[in-house]
Amino acid sequence: MKQPIPTSRESVPAVLVITTPTERKAEEDDRTAEMTSLLDTAGRSVVGRILQHCDKPVPATYIGTGKVEELARLVIERGADEIYFDCSLSPRQQGNVQDVAKRAVYDYEWLILEIFAGNARTEEAKLAVELARAEYLKGRLRRMWTHLDRQRAGGGPGGSGFLTGTGEKQIEMDRRLVRNRIQGLRDKLEGIAGRRERVVAGRNECFKVALVGYTNAGKSTLMNALTAAGVLAEDRLFATLDTRTSRLPLERHHNVVLSDTVGFIRDLPHGLIASFHATLSEVREADLLLHVVDSSSHAMEQQIAAVEGVLSQIGADHVPAIVVFNKSDRAYSRTLVGSCKKRYRNAVSVSALAGNGLPELREAISQVIDRRLARLTVRFSAADGALGAFIRRRARIEDEQYEGEDAVLTIIADEALQAELREHPKLVVSA
Ligand code: GTP
Repeated sequence: MKQPIPTSRESVPAVLVITTPTERKAEEDDRTAEMTSLLDTAGRSVVGRILQHCDKPVPATYIGTGKVEELARLVIERGADEIYFDCSLSPRQQGNVQDVAKRAVYDYEWLILEIFAGNARTEEAKLAVELARAEYLKGRLRRMWTHLDRQRAGGGPGGSGFLTGTGEKQIEMDRRLVRNRIQGLRDKLEGIAGRRERVVAGRNECFKVALVGYTNAGKSTLMNALTAAGVLAEDRLFATLDTRTSRLPLERHHNVVLSDTVGFIRDLPHGLIASFHATLSEVREADLLLHVVDSSSHAMEQQIAAVEGVLSQIGADHVPAIVVFNKSDRAYSRTLVGSCKKRYRNAVSVSALAGNGLPELREAISQVIDRRLARLTVRFSAADGALGAFIRRRARIEDEQYEGEDAVLTIIADEALQAELREHPKLVVSA
C-alpha cells in the first residue's frame, strides 16, 4: 500500500499543496519551508508547489475544483509521483483529489506518521507509531477499497461493474483485522507503560528534569552538553523518538536526572499524541521542564506556542519550566530573543553546541531545586520500622544518629514530603 521511506539517494518527486487562510497569507513561505524540510526527512523532494487561500475548505476536495485541475497539470509537468497537503484531509477529499490528479495524495498527518515510523528505534516507539498509523488507516479502508474497485471495474475485461462488491466483504475483513491489530498493539503498549511507570516511580527520590521543545531545537545536543549521555543529535527533524535518561551533574545537587524526549511540532496528530502517552509520562511527571527554543529560527515564537499547545494537550502545562533559548551563536534576532525572554520568569540563553551559557543554565536549574528542597531534622521512635522505611524511601539521608530510643535523621526533603512530615503525629520536625 505505502512504500517505506526511501533512502536519501532515491528521493521521490512530490508536489506540495499549501493551504493557508487569507489572514495568515504571510505564513505561506514558512509553511513551505517547514513542509519541504519534513518531506526531505521523509525522502521526498519538492518539485512544485500550489498555493491556495483556504478560508473555507471545499468538502469534496478541500481546495477548489480549478486548483485540483491546476494540480493535475503540475504533477504531469514536473514529473511528480506524489502530492502532499500541509493540512489534514478527510478520506473523501484525499480520494477525490487522487482520482483527478492520478497520483497518490497524502496529508500532513500521514507525513508526520511516516517520519515517526522511519525514526522509531525502541520497541515502545515502534508500537506507538504503528498504533497511530493503524488508527489513521482504519478510517480510510472504505475509501481505499472503493478506489481499487473502481479501478478494477473500469480497467478490467467486461467493462463497468466487474468485480464490484468484492470490496464490501474485503472492507469488513480488513476492518476486523485492523481492529484486532489495534487491540493487540494497545495491550502491548499498556504492558510497557506499566513497566515504565514502575521505573519512573523508582526515580522518586531524584529530582526529574525533562527536555521538551520543537523538533530540531537542539534538545539532544543540550542533553549531551549537560550530561555525558552520548544521545543521537542530528540535523534531521525528529531524530529522537525515544526517551533517554541520564544523571545530570550539578555542583550543589547530586540526585538529578535529565530525560530527552520526542520533538514536538505544530498540529502533532492526535493519534500520535495518544500513542506516545506513556513515553510522554516523563514530561508529565517531571519536576522541571527545560523548554528548548531554537533562537536561530525566525518562526521561534510560533514554535514556542506550538510546544506550549502540545504540553497542555498532554496534561503537562502545570510543570514548572525554564525556557532555554538555544543556538545563541546564531540567533535570528537578538532583539526578538530579548523581548521573548522578558515574557518568561525563568529564561536563559545558551549555545549547546559552543557551550555558551551552560553554567548559567545549571545555576538556574539548581535554584529551582534549592527552592523545592529543604534540610530538616526528624526525630521518631527507632522501633517504628515502617516510619523509618517511609522516610528513607522518600528523602535523601544526610546523617543518622540514635539518641536513647529515638532515631534522629538529618534529611533533604522536597516540598510535598516536608508538608507530610510536619503533619505526622509520630514525628518531631525541626529545621
Ligand atoms: P529532534 O530529535 O528532532 O527533536 O531534535 P533535537 O531537538 O534533539 O535537536 P538536535 O540536538 O538533534 O539538534 C538539531 C541540529 O541543531 C543539529 O544539527 C545540532 O548540531 C544543531 N544545534 C544544536 N544546538 C546548537 C547550537 O547551540 N548552535 C548551533 N549553531 N547549532 C545547534
